[in-house]
Amino acid sequence: MKRIERLLRAETGLDAALIGSAVLDRIVRRRLKLLGLSGLPEFLRRLENSPAELKELIESVVVKETWFFRDREPFHAFARIAREWLAQHPTGTLRALSLPCATGEEPYSMVMALLDAQVPPNRFEIDAADISTDALARAREAVYRKNSFRGADLSFRNRYFQSTHAGYTLHPQVRERVRFHHANLLGEAFTHRQSLYDIVFCRNLLIYFDRAAQAKALTQLAGLLTPHGWLFVGPAEMPLATANGFVGAKLPMAFACRSASPRSAIGQGDHDQRLPVTSINSNRVDCPANLTLEPGDSPSPPSAVHAGPAVLSDLEVARQLADAGRLADSVALCEAHLRQQGPSADAYYLLGLVGEARGEAQAINYYRKALYLEPNHYETLRHIALLLEKNGDTNAARTFRRRAQRVQPAEEGAGKPT
Ligand SMILES: C[S@@+](CC[C@H](N)C(=O)[O-])C[C@H]1O[C@@H](n2cnc3c(N)ncnc32)[C@H](O)[C@@H]1O
Repeated sequence: MKRIERLLRAETGLDAALIGSAVLDRIVRRRLKLLGLSGLPEFLRRLENSPAELKELIESVVVKETWFFRDREPFHAFARIAREWLAQHPTGTLRALSLPCATGEEPYSMVMALLDAQVPPNRFEIDAADISTDALARAREAVYRKNSFRGADLSFRNRYFQSTHAGYTLHPQVRERVRFHHANLLGEAFTHRQSLYDIVFCRNLLIYFDRAAQAKALTQLAGLLTPHGWLFVGPAEMPLATANGFVGAKLPMAFACRSASPRSAIGQGDHDQRLPVTSINSNRVDCPANLTLEPGDSPSPPSAVHAGPAVLSDLEVARQLADAGRLADSVALCEAHLRQQGPSADAYYLLGLVGEARGEAQAINYYRKALYLEPNHYETLRHIALLLEKNGDTNAARTFRRRAQRVQPAEEGAGKPT
């Protein structure tokens, strides 16, 4: 299993500790059974020799969760920066990239933000890329379900979507503004590309990488940006960017940063005309950025057999981060989750756990908030009881323990002394 984890990390940068060893194990065993293979060594050989099999594994483990205007403020900041840039470059075309774009909600939100800010469509170009061909196929289709629309203000849905029996179908005026590409951020093709984009969104990917892959990805991103370009990262990813050559742009809640040492301004504004597009393995393609790929042009069609949609939600990732000892990253992700999705017992419970691990007194307040939202949250009841006991408050601890016993899930209670 370790060798499979290493292969996955080498190909994608994804850290198996974050995917969760048990989850990966389940995915691999299911695949073994489906293929009728004798064991892990045979599966590993197949992975090493078959790009299609490797792609299948990657499709199964990547987290594709995303939604329109995720975090909101980055899109407002993006539109403001775009307008300023266009005012300073009266004949220029702003180039932006969303990588990873998953199923397209992020790059399409970028387009909607610009259109809402009255930016003329002929003044910007948006590329979007992802390692998952399944996600790209859905992005090109641009038909979305309720889960892609979260938060209080969904007025954009009335303006830019048509409700059809298949779901919410994006208007062509937005859909046609994005060019989708199959690409691996850590692929060699990105290494030598310089100054392609004025603005790059690379959100909620670095967090799944191990440290080495994070450093490499941020070097690649710095190269893709024009010297004074802007990089938007996910809420939990700012510390990673600032530890790897970027400085925060001081735009509240936008999670934007810029290179700490902009390269010489030679070529600034002269965008290279090609986006490097590479498949995950030897199956490499370069594709002109001005070529609009249509559905069906995908380099390899989505495969029918894989483990289905995203394996982990952002809170599950926060949990894995905590398990891997990355407590600050875990807290940042929980806080982002609370900001975006509103109060959640699971998020407060996790903040309580991390707070406890850090020895913080406020851990108990998080547990209380979780119980306020979900009085029967079993795990929280157990943990608050233990914490109170540790703090010497045995009466309160007993009350919570009794409550936990009352709501204990059947399989946990079976056969155990109470
Ligand atoms: C959680 S989604 C993020 C989507 C969007 N940026 C957002 O924040 O909502 C993560 C995406 O990263 C993609 N991904 C994982 N490893 C990648 C890599 N090495 N290169 C490019 N994309 C990758 C996955 O396929 C998945 O679609």
